Amino acid sequence: MKTKNEWRQDREYMAIVGDLLAQPAVQKLADYTQHHHSNRLQHSIAVSYDSYRIAKRLHLDYRSTARAGLLHDLFYYDWRTTKFDLGTHAFIHPRVALRNAEKITPLNKKEKDIILKHMFGATMATPRYPESLIVSLVDDFEAEHEFFSPLRAKLRRKIKKRRMRTIW
Ligand SMILES: [Fe+2]
Ligand SMILES: [Fe+2]
Repeated sequence: MKTKNEWRQDREYMAIVGDLLAQPAVQKLADYTQHHHSNRLQHSIAVSYDSYRIAKRLHLDYRSTARAGLLHDLFYYDWRTTKFDLGTHAFIHPRVALRNAEKITPLNKKEKDIILKHMFGATMATPRYPESLIVSLVDDFEAEHEFFSPLRAKLRRKIKKRRMRTIW
């Protein structure tokens, strides 16, 4: 996303995901830290909106991409502390997210695939649709971006300060 709130001004996007964003089950994601510097709601919106724009540019099913992108991490536990006996977080949480998403909206085949396969690369589940691959790739990109961009900004400030000191 170019700006933090760009998605809010996008009427078409809001018409597609507005009903989901209004759900307490989605708003609750704001209570969970995702990648140190972002909460899970911010992360889910970023993945949804960026994937939606790519899918639209490629003339793909941007509606399913936007909706399933928003729901891809619909789970409510801290993935850094909660461990499972049945498998890794990468394996378990797409299944939990799918189950939670089905409670708040009907999902088509593609939307289910997008949610279930978004950990492609970390798990063996291969995306069946190009839309699933887009969400999986954007998810990786956002995770890296959310983790490193505040650190980069800090570093830039420090370098700037140092330069100023050497100039004066
Ligand atoms: Fe995830
Ligand atoms: Fe994610």
